Amino acid sequence: MKKVLKATGITVGILFATLLVLSGVIYMISQQHWNTIYDLSSEIVEVSSDPAIIAHGKHVATIRGCVDCHGANLGGTIFLEDPMVGRIVATNLTTGAGGIGQELNALFAYLKTIPSFPTGIRE
Ligand code: HEC
Repeated sequence: MKKVLKATGITVGILFATLLVLSGVIYMISQQHWNTIYDLSSEIVEVSSDPAIIAHGKHVATIRGCVDCHGANLGGTIFLEDPMVGRIVATNLTTGAGGIGQELNALFAYLKTIPSFPTGIRE
């Protein structure tokens, strides 16, 4: 009986240690990924400065909940911080340091160049 208990204890210990190491590795990899800073300074693209379109965009960011996770100024927030799960940051969507605003500008500019393709598919 004692041997069975000991074997079970060792198995559970090994499983727990493996899980711990695995979550540590996943945490380190995701940190590396999240901390990558891309240089997009050469890809600055103009997007619409029409006040009506900007107001509509602000409305969309509010009703779609972007501001709830990314912050009222869309500068990013720590969405989740847990030693076991890791740190999940709701990305800084602005053009400030660490933000992906330039990348978004480029993406929207590209989207404007591709032809409309109505498939009827939506969420
Ligand atoms: C429930 C919370 C939540 C809401 C609501 C939300 N986001 Fe996010 N968003 C996140 C998190 C967390 C991340 C980071 C995910 C990651 O790094 O894998 C993220 C990432 C992003 C990214 C960067 C993606 C990338 O791969 O770099 C963009 C762009 C973005 N969100 C835009 C928006 C917009 C626009 C809205 C509103 C239409 C929105 N988000 C609403 C939580 C949210």
